[in-house]
Amino acid sequence: MSKWGIEEKETLNAINQMGIHGKILNIAAGDGRFNTVLLEKSDKVIAIDKDDLELQTLKKECPNELKNKLETMNVDITKEFPFNDETFDGVFCTGTLHLFKEDIVIKILNEIKRILKKKGILILDFATEISRFDRNGNQVVIEDEGSYSSERAIQLFKENLKEFEINIEEAFFKEENLEDDAGYQSIEGHFLVVCGKKSIIKERTINTL
Ligand SMILES: C[S@@+](CC[C@H](N)C(=O)[O-])C[C@H]1O[C@@H](n2cnc3c(N)ncnc32)[C@H](O)[C@@H]1O
Repeated sequence: MSKWGIEEKETLNAINQMGIHGKILNIAAGDGRFNTVLLEKSDKVIAIDKDDLELQTLKKECPNELKNKLETMNVDITKEFPFNDETFDGVFCTGTLHLFKEDIVIKILNEIKRILKKKGILILDFATEISRFDRNGNQVVIEDEGSYSSERAIQLFKENLKEFEINIEEAFFKEENLEDDAGYQSIEGHFLVVCGKKSIIKERTINTL
């Protein structure tokens, strides 16, 4: 099992319903939660993360029969993504965007929009109203984390994904008995599953008299 917890059923439902296909970018893929499902449904998955150890675990855990569809790359997602415009049929990102402040989230969403093909698919999850606890029940606060209410996060996605037909579902999570290297023993809160399809922007015809 991933050190980041279970594969939540709400996110698995989104993967099953959105019609994952073609070339998929798994952003901040970590040690590979959901990555096998993405590989099973697509032609290729590029899993990116800034932590090589996470990517090594992801590769090790990848079933042998799917390894030929997997590529991993060390990428810092707060910088420009190293991919051309309209490269991917789908972009997937879980457990990560809520870690960043709003200006960085907007920058990442802009990069996602750039590298997605027209009609490309987007599946994100975004934790809100988060509480973390250590082994002794003391609250763990992560400095510089975004710390979003659900209301603010929904507004952020609506404002910055105008090119998408989006659907946002809110669910709840609780993870306990996490490994020490997660930095906390339990975490709970809400999470938004944001699904979208990049719509074709219709060209406007202007009638001149
Ligand atoms: C909570 S884990 C989630 C991993 C995985 N997506 C999942 O849902 O299990 C967050 C991941 O984001 C990665 N990460 C954090 N900041 C990053 C950055 N600036 N660029 C790329 N990856 C980053 C971490 O290395 C870690 O693997």
